[in-house]
Amino acid sequence: MNKEQPEIEVCFGPECGDKGGPELAKELRALGHTIVMGDCRSQCANAPLVLVENQGVVTATCAKVLAKIEQVQGCGA
Ligand code: FES
Repeated sequence: MNKEQPEIEVCFGPECGDKGGPELAKELRALGHTIVMGDCRSQCANAPLVLVENQGVVTATCAKVLAKIEQVQGCGA
């Protein structure tokens, strides 16, 4: 990956933990991303929550997070 890595935080709170947050973190790590384990941010109804450079991705999937990373990296390029 030649672009600078954005900060990716995956919520490891109780609801996101139940709704696939840890599995998603594992998938993203397998793709070479560094993951920060986050706390609940009161977005539990839309779990799992991921933050890419502090921009929320709700009901996150690997594809949605990768699209957000691309969007964040494209900014100002
Ligand atoms: S548990 Fe993830 S936002 Fe609340």
